[in-house]
Amino acid sequence: MLKLLVLLAAFTLIHASRHYSPIIAALGFSLIGFTVTDWMIPRVSSAFVKIGCFGKDLSKPGKPVIPETIGAISATVYLFIMFFYIPFLFYKYLVVLTSGGGQRDVSVMETANDHLFPHGKLSEYLSAVLCLESTVLLGIADDLFDLRWRHKFFLPAVAAIPLLVVYYVDFGVTYVLIPEFIRKLCGTSKTTVDLGALYYIYMAAMAIFCPNSINILAGVNGLEVGQSIILSAIFLINDFIYLLIGTEASKESHLFSAILIIPFLGVSLGLWKWNRWPAKVFVGDTYCYFAGMVFSVVGILGHFSKTTLLFFLPQIFNFAYSCPQLFKLVPCPRHRMPRFNEPDGLMYPSRANLVEDPPKGIMIPILKVLYKIKLIDLDLDEKTGAIKNCSNMTLINLVLVWFGPMREDKLCRTILTLQFVVGLLAVVARHMIGSLVFGHDNLHFL
Ligand code: UD1
Ligand code: MG
Repeated sequence: MLKLLVLLAAFTLIHASRHYSPIIAALGFSLIGFTVTDWMIPRVSSAFVKIGCFGKDLSKPGKPVIPETIGAISATVYLFIMFFYIPFLFYKYLVVLTSGGGQRDVSVMETANDHLFPHGKLSEYLSAVLCLESTVLLGIADDLFDLRWRHKFFLPAVAAIPLLVVYYVDFGVTYVLIPEFIRKLCGTSKTTVDLGALYYIYMAAMAIFCPNSINILAGVNGLEVGQSIILSAIFLINDFIYLLIGTEASKESHLFSAILIIPFLGVSLGLWKWNRWPAKVFVGDTYCYFAGMVFSVVGILGHFSKTTLLFFLPQIFNFAYSCPQLFKLVPCPRHRMPRFNEPDGLMYPSRANLVEDPPKGIMIPILKVLYKIKLIDLDLDEKTGAIKNCSNMTLINLVLVWFGPMREDKLCRTILTLQFVVGLLAVVARHMIGSLVFGHDNLHFL
């Protein structure tokens, strides 16, 4: 089977190099990414355990120990793929002949091809790869040293420095479009506003948000990789809409997005095979940061960061919903993943004890309102009406509050289905709201 996939990948790449199609090359590299990741994981996992990279699967009888940080394999395979991918993207600018003697003067250059990227895009591409490399480096540091939340939360912004610096010297555009209704409201004819330094803060905030939001929607076998696979699918659906019926200007950024995401999908599917229920490996924070950074890089460099955030709606909801616990207004245990009940093998919402560690006063009426509208489960004292405990405030626990206890694999599937449906609605909303808010969309028929 593996040999067949490699053969198919090689054939696809040869085809791509003849026809200069980056998308076909991306498919070839994606197949290679899947095959290499899938081949390597069982072979190197025990080495991870030997150096202490392992974790207890808390939702299984006996809490077995399995290798952790295995997402580092997918990430490394992805980075190497991105290096080998360069000639398939920027081939036309490779100098094939100079006057010799180490001279750099160009005598013959490969002829231009419409399907490939202009040379200027190479620095953007390399800045993306650099940014992902530093993300993986910092992610591994987190997995090895188990950093504190208040420190690791900002790590992705540090990892994004290469991206922001190259953006500054290479592109540097910090203008954003003003929505039509705001233009009308302010009576201005200006269509753009320059955000200056604020734009860089906004990009750094995106780089912090995407990786962290994936990392906190976790704790169920397969969910970290699963949500990244669904996000990839949603991004690709949006990209192909633009590639098929988009304006010329929008095509380049969506082609760029697709060529970064297709190989990412390959390495993630390879990891999913080993991380899905019952998990044989854990992905580690390395993968969560890396995956989140792939999407923020694509959104930032493709200049569709608002659309990126729209596709992150389930993660945004989970983050907003988690805020009372993240900011310690409600006690936050180290793990908020659902509770595994060994006798029936099902997952139940995990709970925060509010008797030992009472929430801040302002939160009590808020928790009661959330309870009324079925956005949380509370255990109330029958006599006094005081809150004894509440379900931990994550989307995962909320799904269990809504749909009742279920097995871990079904819980993961339910969340991923919900995410996919929301993602599809977001794609539709993007093209309807985009044309309503900005007066136009980048599609030909709108
Ligand atoms: C985040 C969440 C935490 C959640 C954890 C699960 C916040 C603020 N933090 O913390 O609530 O419990 O992710 O990853 O929301 N594990 C399993 N089964 C799985 C995945 C993980 O049992 O399917 C356990 C393993 O013991 C593993 C550990 O979770 O070793 C990994 O936790 P880690 O990624 O270090 O937690 P955080 O990212 O800090
Ligand atoms: Mg984690």
